[in-house]
Amino acid sequence: MKYIREHLGAKLFLANLVVILVGIGILAITIQVTIPAAYNRHIGMMNQSAMTGMMGPGEGQGQGQGFGKTLFENFRASMFESLAYAVTASVIAALIVSLFLSRRVVAPVRTLTEASQHIAEGHYDERVQVNGSDEIAQLAERFNRMTTQLEQVESKRLQLIGDVTHELRTPLTSIKGFMEGLVDGVLPSTPETFNQIHHEADRLSRLVDDLQELSRVEAGSYSLDLRSTEVANLVQTTIKRLTPQAIVKRIGLRSSLPADLPHVQADEDRITQVLVNLVANAIQYTPDGGDVTISAARHEDEIYISVKDTGIGIPPEHLGSLFTRFYRVDKSRSRNAGGGSGIGLTIAKHLVEAHGGRVWAESLGEGKGSTFHFSLKIAPVNL
Ligand SMILES: Nc1ncnc2c1ncn2[C@@H]1O[C@H](COP(=O)(O)OP(=O)(O)OP(=O)(O)O)[C@@H](O)[C@H]1O
Ligand SMILES: [Mg+2]
Repeated sequence: MKYIREHLGAKLFLANLVVILVGIGILAITIQVTIPAAYNRHIGMMNQSAMTGMMGPGEGQGQGQGFGKTLFENFRASMFESLAYAVTASVIAALIVSLFLSRRVVAPVRTLTEASQHIAEGHYDERVQVNGSDEIAQLAERFNRMTTQLEQVESKRLQLIGDVTHELRTPLTSIKGFMEGLVDGVLPSTPETFNQIHHEADRLSRLVDDLQELSRVEAGSYSLDLRSTEVANLVQTTIKRLTPQAIVKRIGLRSSLPADLPHVQADEDRITQVLVNLVANAIQYTPDGGDVTISAARHEDEIYISVKDTGIGIPPEHLGSLFTRFYRVDKSRSRNAGGGSGIGLTIAKHLVEAHGGRVWAESLGEGKGSTFHFSLKIAPVNL
């Protein structure tokens, strides 16, 4: 029974069997019911004809089928008559049963067709009811899963449009405000005003670059050039690139790497991009005079690279969301502190995951510094 419930083929086979059995059953019953009457009529007529034959020739001729026929012919005629009724009845019964059964089998397919039409029209909240566990029920379940995902993609898309609009509006409103001030003569035409406008325009162009990079990494439309790479090289390149920013804030930027660290399997440019993101954050969110340290350690077949700072820290409830796009612990603070848009960590996460690694953050709380870690696979030749 369980097998039949779970297999559409078995259901169809059973439906056909039921149709055949119903046909045979009705055939047998109708023959049983109709044959006495047919037999009586034909044989009765034959007897009548025999009796009238005895009475005299000429009478009773041509009055009916039974007259003047042999016993066998009448028997055959009564058989055919009864069979004709039986076949008609059994065909009608089989048609009704097969119509009923095929409707039952086709009904869920029709429901799915209608639901997919609704989805095609953009109604992503459409779901179909899943009955049973056969192939059509499995199809319905997958269909529901697909619509749930479509719904999520659609809501993410709408959210992204909302977020991007919001992010673009801030610098644009600011530039517009400056320009209106200049036109009305409220703001002086000094280099300082122009610098502020330039600063906002710069922020806008960085945001657009970041968004472009984000869409590229989210779509996976880039190729990784994975090679055996020395971690020390990655760290040196990052330090060289960010030393000017660290100097401005009098932040001690150093590295602490064990001497015998195996090479990692990585795309050098991409992982440098990740490290630059993490270290730039560490510098950005650490007050003047703090420290930022890059370290690395082996954990089984992986290397954990960590960026530790003595900065403003992160409250525990935010730790899980930092890698979501546009997420900032304190939006106003990030803007004032140089216009962070909350994309850097999302890009870093995508790049690390493309390498088969993970990225996560730790912090003891506000004012207690933060540490960002990410893992990379050790290069095969080093294992
Ligand atoms: N080292 C850190 N210390 C404290 N908070 C941090 C640190 N790194 C990241 N954060 C928090 O995580 C948020 C997201 O960081 P992310 O790098 O994604 O964006 P951002 O720095 O705001 O902007 P950008 O896209 O320009 O990098 C930051 O806004 C900040 O609130
Ligand atoms: Mg950042």
